[in-house]
Amino acid sequence: MTDLTGFLGNAYPWVLAAHVTFVIYWIAGLLLLPRFYVYHHETTAGSAEDRAWIERERRTRNIILGPAMFVVWALGLLLAFNIGAFEEGWFHAKLALVIALSGYQGWLGVYGKRLASGKRSGSNRTLRIMNEIPGVAAAVIVVLVIVRPF
Ligand code: HEM
Repeated sequence: MTDLTGFLGNAYPWVLAAHVTFVIYWIAGLLLLPRFYVYHHETTAGSAEDRAWIERERRTRNIILGPAMFVVWALGLLLAFNIGAFEEGWFHAKLALVIALSGYQGWLGVYGKRLASGKRSGSNRTLRIMNEIPGVAAAVIVVLVIVRPF
């Protein structure tokens, strides 16, 4: 935690703090957006409520999810190079999960566009199950980076 020998020097704890802050923003967005989809799924296509959800979802994707994911990746990679994490098992597992979470965000974008065009594909139950993915992934990632079991 306080290893200041990497190229980041004294900036290291600040970069780490910023990384964790943007992780919070990112995961908050990933928990919020699929919940919006559950409510949106229940509306009638073309209604005023439908249009309101489309706008809320668009803003959540563009203002929270997109920028937060970018900053988390940028700072996370800086930290990884700084501590030489690429040789460590826990980091490989974390990277795999983070790539999966980024893919999940891609799926959210595609699904949102489908909802916005009036399609109501997939059951509400499927959506609710998809909702659990970011919470579970975040918990496993936190164990990987803090416990570092391998
Ligand atoms: C997007 C790609 C990501 C990369 C490349 C990355 C990389 C890293 C690295 C290398 C560290 C260790 C820093 C150190 O100990 O000096 C770290 C710390 C941390 N990361 Fe990430 N990370 C990413 C995303 C995430 C995500 C999605 C989460 C949570 C869901 C997360 C949570 C954390 C936490 C809590 C720490 C602090 C652990 C500590 O006390 O050292 N990171 N990250």
